[in-house]
Formats: sequence, structure tokens, C-alpha cells
Amino acid sequence: MTIDHTWWKEATIYQIWPASYKDSNGDGIGDIPGAISTLDYLKDLGIDIIWLSPMYKSPMEDMGYDISDYQDINPDFGTLQDMQDLIDGCHKRGMKIICDLVINHTSDQHAWFKESRSSLDNPKRDWYIWKKPRYDADGNRQPPNNWSSYFSGSAWTYDETTDEYYLRLFANGQPDLNWENEECRQAIYDSALKFWFERGVDGFRIDTAGLYSKDQSFADAPIVFKDQYYQPSSKLTHNGPRIHEFHKEMFKKVTSNYDVMTVGEVGRCTRDEALKYVSAARNEMNMIFLFDAIEVGCNPDDKFRYQGWKLTDFKDAIRNQSDFIKGTDAWSTVFIENHDQPRCVTRLGNAKKFHDKSGKLLATLQTTLTGTLFIYQGQEIGMTNLPRSWSIDEYKDINTINYYKAFKEKFGNDKDFEEKEAKLLDVINLMARDHARSPVQWSDAKYGGFSTVEPWMRVNDNYDKINVESQLNDPDSLLKFYQKVLKLRKEYKDLFIYGSFEILDYENEKVFTYVKELPDAKHPNAYVALNMSDDQVDFKPLIEGKFKLVACNADSDEFDEKVLTPWEARVYILE
Ligand code: GLC
Ligand code: CA
Repeated sequence: MTIDHTWWKEATIYQIWPASYKDSNGDGIGDIPGAISTLDYLKDLGIDIIWLSPMYKSPMEDMGYDISDYQDINPDFGTLQDMQDLIDGCHKRGMKIICDLVINHTSDQHAWFKESRSSLDNPKRDWYIWKKPRYDADGNRQPPNNWSSYFSGSAWTYDETTDEYYLRLFANGQPDLNWENEECRQAIYDSALKFWFERGVDGFRIDTAGLYSKDQSFADAPIVFKDQYYQPSSKLTHNGPRIHEFHKEMFKKVTSNYDVMTVGEVGRCTRDEALKYVSAARNEMNMIFLFDAIEVGCNPDDKFRYQGWKLTDFKDAIRNQSDFIKGTDAWSTVFIENHDQPRCVTRLGNAKKFHDKSGKLLATLQTTLTGTLFIYQGQEIGMTNLPRSWSIDEYKDINTINYYKAFKEKFGNDKDFEEKEAKLLDVINLMARDHARSPVQWSDAKYGGFSTVEPWMRVNDNYDKINVESQLNDPDSLLKFYQKVLKLRKEYKDLFIYGSFEILDYENEKVFTYVKELPDAKHPNAYVALNMSDDQVDFKPLIEGKFKLVACNADSDEFDEKVLTPWEARVYILE
């Protein structure tokens, strides 16, 4: 088997979430010119491709994932010319840029929806999903079925104009497009994809790419949570009957005409289902994000019902995510942070006691795994979750706010509410999307050097200790370690990016050891040992060979061949 070297397989991709990345004009909101000013920094870090989260025109009910015009820019972020400058700025430096493609839904302020809602016989009525109300035994109007929104409550919103409900799996202002309608699909392709390919965008991260095909029965969803009326609809909305037909069509009609990449957000799926999206021969998408690793310990239908995890659960997740392509023509991704997730040093490392060391361990894990690597803004300096002492009012995400509100409505009058609330706040402090959304900490200046004025969201209190500037000046910093291991990944790219992955110590609940092999090689070629615990443990290689240490996060004065100190990570090449 020869390796099929491809630019988007080998790339290290850096996600920019514009509102909190860098403010250039002192209005407290990150923007595109701010992003442009950091391109050299990203180049030095070892980044090949930038993924820009939605910068489109939007009322920002869901921070830009509610788009009111695919062909225009949110004025807070800049102009179409700024966007062109960013695209050109990337290309000039030999980098590429991909955008977010949010086409399961639009904003309710999009011209298409405004038309659709205006009357029952509007030509665009069928571009969205409209259903008649249901009435209960007492004659009260109810949503058409029991599907819940990802942001709490019903997935349907009543619209008085025509006395019908529209489906919106996310916020009120995010009506789902009706992919059954061919004219609507064609409009999506032209407006959201071709427009940007023609301007030089090199691909898309495809938002909620498994949700386009709804089961047309619109039947009630099975009961998953007995303590609530509205139920997760995934059985009827996820990986639906026509989903692969739609992806094939989009590929054939649009994507295949350009030298671009696509990565779909598909979430949990069986191996067979995942392979359908990304097998090269099927011509759908290049790769998908599977959520196994970042959702470890969560109830996948409701992450705030947090259950906790053991290292073996995490090993299962990493194996599933990096291994499902073994022996196939498919491709996969590597990531442990994004704008919907907490910060990995807090969630998976030990941010309090071993901040830098566990951050470096996670960097080692990421840069040695198979697939295309994604890093989220601030991950490279080990930005942490928000302090537990902050009030819930500092949380700005609609997902968190709605969840907390619904919780208060339900339990607010209980005698033990305070106790219950404290428990929920613990989980919010661990899992909320807000943790990824606080402003990037560029320096120890006021507001973390993100802006000259008070930002739209509070900067994490630890910006004086954790920031880009101080880490650039410290040869032992996490940031410098990222630069180093990202280089190493490229130096041994066949092994780390394309090589196969095998866990050697599955049962071990403290240490995670795996080997990476070149296709067809008789012997393992890289050996990675990660002590993911606060304890020191003995170290002895689990296989024979001549070991050459190429990366390690222990200080030289604490390094001892025979032990792994807490959160120590080592990469050996076997000669
Ligand atoms: C995806 C995005 C998330 C957004 C949702 C609705 O999951 O990553 O941020 O809220 O889709 O568009
Ligand atoms: Ca700004």
C-alpha cells in the first residue's frame, strides 16, 4: 500500500472564532482585520489552513450560526473587502482558508425565510419545514411533535401569520431549511458555496452535516429522558434516509469542480455510518468530526447530564476516532477543542496543578494521532475554562442560558434548589461552550491584549499568567512546545499523520501507550507513552527495540528514564 499524500490530509488547521479572536478597531469585538494581523504568528506556529467560524451577516442569536445573508459579512467583523484581504493574506503566505458552511438552517432574518413565512402559498413556503399545530385533549395548541431543540424546549416555533409551526432544531431564530425541496438545495449551493469558492476559499467545515434529511413521518421521537416532555430527535433527524444522496449531489454539482476540502460535523455515528460520509469512492465529504473523544463522560443527548469518565473510556474514544478508517479509503480528523467545547487542559488535563505539563501532554497526543489535525484558538497557550467563582451572568451562550433557565423553571421552587443549582453550575463550569468563547489572551495588558476596551465577553482572570506574548518569550512554554511537536509531526508525517494506531496498554487507567506504524512496516515505528494521572508511575517499554527519544515534556532535571512523572509524555522513534 502506498501513501496517498494529499494537502488536506497533512494540514494542521487552526480554528478562528472571530468574535473572540482579536479586536482591531477598539469596539470590544474580534474582527477580520484582527485575524489578518496574526497571520505571521499562525504561520510560525506551523499552521497550514485557517478555519474561520461564521463571519457572515447574522443577528447573532447563535453567534453567527444563524446566517441572514451568505454573501455578506457581519459588519462587526468587517467587510467583503476585509474578507478578500484575509483570503489573499493566507494565500500569500502559502496558507489556505476554509469557512463554515451552515446550511441546515438560516436565520429567521434571511430573505428566504421572510418570504417563506409571509403566506401559505408563497413560492418559498416549502423551503422551510412548516407543520400544522397539534391540539391536546383540552383543545390547547401544541407543537406538531415532541422533538426537543438542542437549545432546550420544543424544536418548533409557532408563527401567527399562517397559524403553523416551523421546525428549528436549534434556536428560535434558526429555522431548518427543507432539503427535500430541489430548488432550495440549488439556491444553497449557489449562494453559500459557489459564491465563496469563486472568491478563493479553499473549502468548508460543514456545520451539522448529518441533519439535512429528516424522517418525513415527523413522528414523535422515542422517550429517552423520562423527566421531560420534549425528547431528542436524533433517531428521526440524524443520518436520515436521503442524507447521502444530498451529500453526493452537493459534491457532484459543486465541490468536485474545485480543488477544495470538506470536513463535516457529524457527531456520533456507528463505524459503518461514518464510513459512508468519508469513503473516498463515495464522493461525499473528505472527513468528518466524530465526537467520541470530546464527549467522553457525557450523556450524548444532553452534555449537562455529565457522568464522568475513566482513562479506558477515553482510549476507546480515541481508538474509535482515529482507527475507523483502518483498511479503507476513508480519512479522519484529530481534535479535542472547538467553539462548542470546554478547554482541553481543564477537561482532560489538570489545569490547576499541572497546567503546562498536562497541556504539553495533550499536544503530544494530538500531534501523534492519525488524521487531519485541528487546533482551536487559545489551545496552543493552554487557555482554561472560566473560573467557578464567576456568576452565571458571565455566560453568554444561548445553549447555556436556555438550559439554566429551563432548569430554574423546573426546580426553582424545590426546597433543595440551591444544592441542585450548585451541582448544575459545577457541570456548566466544566462543560459549557462559553469556556471556548472568552477572548484570546494575547498579552498581560488590560483585557488580555484582545481589545483596548471592555470586550463583549469577560476575559478569563488568568490572562496575566496565560498569554501569547509571555509564552513566545519563554523557550519552555506550552506554545513553544506546540511549535516543536507540530514540526515533529511534519518531519515524521508518514508515521504520525498516515500511520496506523495501536493501543498497547488498554487496561491501564493511568498511562496511555500506543504505537504508530507505517503501512506495511513489520515493526512499530513510533512509541508514545502518556501518563495521564497525577501520580508518578514506573516506566518500562512494553515492546522491544532501539528507542530514540524525540519529544518529552519533562524538565531535564526531573527526567528519569525509568519513571513517568505526573502528566509526562514521551515520544520515541524505534530504529
Ligand atoms: C453546530 C455549531 C454550533 C451551532 C450549531 C447550530 O453544532 O458548531 O456552534 O450552535 O451547529 O448551527
Ligand atoms: Ca472589532
